[in-house]
Amino acid sequence: MRKQIAAANWKMNLTIQQAETLVSDLLSASFDLNQEREVVFAVPFPYLVSIQNIIAGKEHVSVAAQNCYNKLSGAYTGEVSAEMLKSIGVPYVIIGHSERREYFNETNAVLAEKVSICFEYGLKPIFCCGEALSIREAGTQNSHVENQLKESLFHLTEEHLTGFVIAYEPIWAIGTGKTATSEQAQEMHAHIRKVLATQYSEALANSISILYGGSVKAANAKEIFGQPDVDGGLVGGSSLIATEFSVIINSLK
Ligand code: 13P
Repeated sequence: MRKQIAAANWKMNLTIQQAETLVSDLLSASFDLNQEREVVFAVPFPYLVSIQNIIAGKEHVSVAAQNCYNKLSGAYTGEVSAEMLKSIGVPYVIIGHSERREYFNETNAVLAEKVSICFEYGLKPIFCCGEALSIREAGTQNSHVENQLKESLFHLTEEHLTGFVIAYEPIWAIGTGKTATSEQAQEMHAHIRKVLATQYSEALANSISILYGGSVKAANAKEIFGQPDVDGGLVGGSSLIATEFSVIINSLK
């Protein structure tokens, strides 16, 4: 079975004290985690090491960075490189979140550079894709997402892509309380898998975890995660509340 993943994306929220309390509260509950059911906390850069210390020894729980730069190193004040993340033992990094695309002008081409660098340093990207409302209304969401994958991932080989995670996050569902229906999520996830199978192989397509993101909460996680091509979620707002996120973790297949 593919990995089922409950990933928390805290975005730019929480003080370190709040963050440590949240993770400690969550970890005091017992979850049925294993090789195929993982929890990931995508935390702000300054918290990576302390959260890693809190989760140390907890199997199948890890951290992710929320971004890294598209250059290896050098005079880029304020940026964080893939090599730095690797050097502190961070396994995952979110690449191409729609907020980064929108507010920081990250294009498909820039994201292509980032995923190459991630591969070089052995970091596993959680690569985000998804359409704006206008695209959904025009009915062109499938080709839009396909193009995001093509322009940012298809320069990589099948070997490079092994271990990648993809997150489908329709922009109109992020932070709006308006979730895609489980049918809409399943349809897009199946499309993404078909695109990967056509470009690479069925084996690769079937091995990649595809997470859904956009207003996932305790009340809808089980229904969404229950879809055959949905392998868990990338969760914003509801990941900041221990009682909500623990239900979401328990909703993994
Ligand atoms: P919300 O869960 O707050 O809608 O955010 C989703 C998201 O952007 C996760 O990366």
